Amino acid sequence: MADTDQNALKRAAAARALEYVKDGMKLGLGSGSTAELFVEMLAPRVRGGEKLLCVPTSERTAALARKLGLTLSTLDELAPLDITFDGADEADRNLDLIKGGGGMLLREKIVAASSRRMIVIADESKLVARLGKFPLPVEVVEFGHKATVQRLAASLAAQGFANPTLTLRQKDDAPFKTDSGNLIYDCALGAIQKPAALGAAILAVPGVVEHGLFTGIATTLLIAGPGEVEVIEK
Ligand code: A5P
Repeated sequence: MADTDQNALKRAAAARALEYVKDGMKLGLGSGSTAELFVEMLAPRVRGGEKLLCVPTSERTAALARKLGLTLSTLDELAPLDITFDGADEADRNLDLIKGGGGMLLREKIVAASSRRMIVIADESKLVARLGKFPLPVEVVEFGHKATVQRLAASLAAQGFANPTLTLRQKDDAPFKTDSGNLIYDCALGAIQKPAALGAAILAVPGVVEHGLFTGIATTLLIAGPGEVEVIEK
């Protein structure tokens, strides 16, 4: 898909998502390019006088939202939120997701889990029959991370993933650090048959902070294809 086509689809999904926003709502703002388009489209509604209170899921989204004049607060002040709008790296028709391509999975999951609804906005390239082509991001604390990743590999093997490739994410020739100061291992696993069980097994590894499998959290997918936005509900 040409980049401009993909951007047009992301824009279409974000525009459709705006229809769910009502004056007075408390919103979670996701991270990534699609979520940023949503934030940009939300700004005129606020300038038009709607009272919306927003909780960003990353420092980057916070900076954008602030620049555009959105009113930000903390999750602790506002929870539970009405709706969180966020993108995804992969989504299936059970509304299970892989997220964290941008490294914001921890705050994204905390905010989404503290929302009555999570609406996922994405172009059609993100909709998959089965999760797992996109390497699963796993956030770990820096202390002892090499030992942690060995135990993570053993846990994955016990889950039936024989030789997964676990790669420490880099940025600018140094290990990538999340907004919470942790590291990320991207785990190339292939098809994931039981996302919830896999997620539980990964979280049981000491040193793991969070993983990018979102199961039982999303309530609506808005998937933009040419000519229409498909709405997939739980
Ligand atoms: C950020 O950590 C991710 O979870 C993003 O939501 C995901 O990578 C989707 O990003 P795009 O909208 O840029 O594809």
